[in-house]
Amino acid sequence: MTDDERFSLLISVLGEVPGSTAAGTRDPRIPEEVTNMSAGYTPGVPRLGIPAIQSSDAGMGVTNPGYRPDDEGATAFPSSIALGSSFNPRLVREGGEAIGREARARGFNVQLAGGCNLARDPRNGRNFEYYSEDPYLSAVLAAEQVDGIQSQGVVSTLKHYTLNCNETNRHWLDAIIDPDAHRESDLLTFQIAIERSQPGAIMSGYNKIDGEYAGGNHHLLNEVLKGAWGYPGYVMSDWGATPQWQFALAGLDQESGVQADLMLWGKQPFADELRDAYVNGELPAERLSDMVRRILRSLFAVGVDRWGPAPEVDMAEHNRIALEGARQGIVLLKNDGVLPIPSDRPLAIAVIGGYAQQGVISGTGSGAVAPVGGFAGVIKIGGAGVMGKHRNLFLFPPSPLEELEKFLPQAHFDLDPGYTPAEAALTAKRSDMVIVFGIRVEGEGFDSVLEGGVAESMTEGVHRSGPGLGEPTVADLSLPWGQDAVIDAVASANANTIVVLETGNPVSMPWRDKVKAIVQAWYPGQAGGQAIAEVLSGAVNPSGRLPITFPESLEQTPRPELPGLGTPWGTAVTIEYNEGAEVGYRWFAETGARPMYAFGHGLGYTTFEYSDLAVTGGDTVTATFTVSNTGDRPGADVPQLYLTEAAGERRQRLLGFERVELQPGTSHRVTLVAEPRLLARFDGTAGKWRITEGTYKVAVGKSADSLDLTAETTLTNALFGS
Ligand code: GLC
Repeated sequence: MTDDERFSLLISVLGEVPGSTAAGTRDPRIPEEVTNMSAGYTPGVPRLGIPAIQSSDAGMGVTNPGYRPDDEGATAFPSSIALGSSFNPRLVREGGEAIGREARARGFNVQLAGGCNLARDPRNGRNFEYYSEDPYLSAVLAAEQVDGIQSQGVVSTLKHYTLNCNETNRHWLDAIIDPDAHRESDLLTFQIAIERSQPGAIMSGYNKIDGEYAGGNHHLLNEVLKGAWGYPGYVMSDWGATPQWQFALAGLDQESGVQADLMLWGKQPFADELRDAYVNGELPAERLSDMVRRILRSLFAVGVDRWGPAPEVDMAEHNRIALEGARQGIVLLKNDGVLPIPSDRPLAIAVIGGYAQQGVISGTGSGAVAPVGGFAGVIKIGGAGVMGKHRNLFLFPPSPLEELEKFLPQAHFDLDPGYTPAEAALTAKRSDMVIVFGIRVEGEGFDSVLEGGVAESMTEGVHRSGPGLGEPTVADLSLPWGQDAVIDAVASANANTIVVLETGNPVSMPWRDKVKAIVQAWYPGQAGGQAIAEVLSGAVNPSGRLPITFPESLEQTPRPELPGLGTPWGTAVTIEYNEGAEVGYRWFAETGARPMYAFGHGLGYTTFEYSDLAVTGGDTVTATFTVSNTGDRPGADVPQLYLTEAAGERRQRLLGFERVELQPGTSHRVTLVAEPRLLARFDGTAGKWRITEGTYKVAVGKSADSLDLTAETTLTNALFGS
């Protein structure tokens, strides 16, 4: 290859949104004949059979933030946190295969999917793009998505390497963590997912880790990813995450979206400075060859160079996958007998708030998908920084209301916008039952800065704390726009109140004891309206389990006050992740606090029991037990296997899980073999995983704090892996 050809591979150019800049300012590096614009374009080398590299976002489908006016829309799959709730690897793989087909049909050979950062902070605006707070669940599911996409001949990323767990001033955020704890949490997620799916590329994140930017972090890129783990693919930066060419020496192979760097850092380092560095000997020849080889190797390993005609895209099948994902992602948190709603009675049902008459909402940012047929509505929200223009209330049709009318044909529905507590209460009062929606738009570039507008005592409903009322403004997990007050007023007016949440994170629920049922639908994608109606009417038996802990309050979390929250765009922020590897349920196990709803929690319309646990040890834990459907209707359960004590030390780790579908009265024997690194500590001095000989206690349960069966076994000393 010529040097021109080699250096041309080391950058990608952001597609221009038609009309977003003065006419004719299309980046000259993108040939006129390229019409399928998107996140990144890298010229190929036709004489050598190397195709142009065209990348698109992301993990919920093929996005089109205006790049392709003639694109009729893509399948809008459920958010990753909803898929995380399914605990269903096969389902996630099916979604990955479908996304891969839709990317390929548009000529994209790299899909920027595989978001697998841990949900460390329930305020993180991008948790909806990630699977869970647990490394193993996240790794297993992310690997399935990547494998599914790559099975279609499209390279997938895993992202954002690493510890991109908050959005607050992310370009200037320094994430501090103990290196060994990092290996046992966020890095373990990437390590297991890489082993299981061989992603062609890893995308480094915006933030710093322990003082070094992710894209220029020699330790994490050269020593861990490429060194200890032997990762053979390439590392691309995030868009606007390459402030200097020297990142090439630290392990970065490709600068993505170079115009974003020009905007943020005033230069395009790999485009404008890297070649000079090579000419004057600062960039070694073997490093240049390595960068190019890694990129080409991944294209060839996934088969991008061997594309035949694009496979047919069966959108009906993709719609089915999206619907199944929405169904299995819905988590029934509370049910005091009010669900399922009987479909054979002429009930007067109030449907209140959440734009339920228009559709279901989505997360925002680079991962937001424009559905086939377009949105039912888009309401601009805006905000600071580069992602403000992407922060919209997107509504996917069909609406929950029209779907409820289909599944509850005998009922009479009374719609109320939930605009004020008083108005909503009047609607509730005259109804037999109320379904009230609580929504919160969350997305890239923003952590929740919600203000505690919750009345000190909702029952009185007299005095409200919060801004402008003489009380300090407290950032918390409350619903915005006064929805908590609406839900409280409605629950006070009608005892048969059901709350349906469409959020990207846990929420606080001051009205929890006053409502009969609570359903978390997350951002369920294009089929969310139908799936919500199916669950509420009992057409579908909910089987989702929480992939993230719902705390009673932020006081229970490692960082009640999020450093830098609300500071102006551009402010340097340091977040010390002192919980280390004890993320989510692990933190609660350490502190002994009881959350509002635990990791793994979820109810259904039948009951399950576990029995006959048998455990063996040695070099890992193998557990076998029976799951029985003891109820009167078919359903799915997700029994979970946890480590609870390791050689005398209290430590909770999810060791395994299996989603089991059972007819009533039937049973299934489950065997789970633990990933040994979940039983070990990382010994940074030795650079290896260490299992200390001793007694290991395990438990099988329905959630992290509902453990039904316990057992113990002995493990032998081991020093292994890297
Ligand atoms: C965004 C995101 C990343 C995405 C990329 C391209 O800012 O951080 O997840 O893939 O830029 O849109």
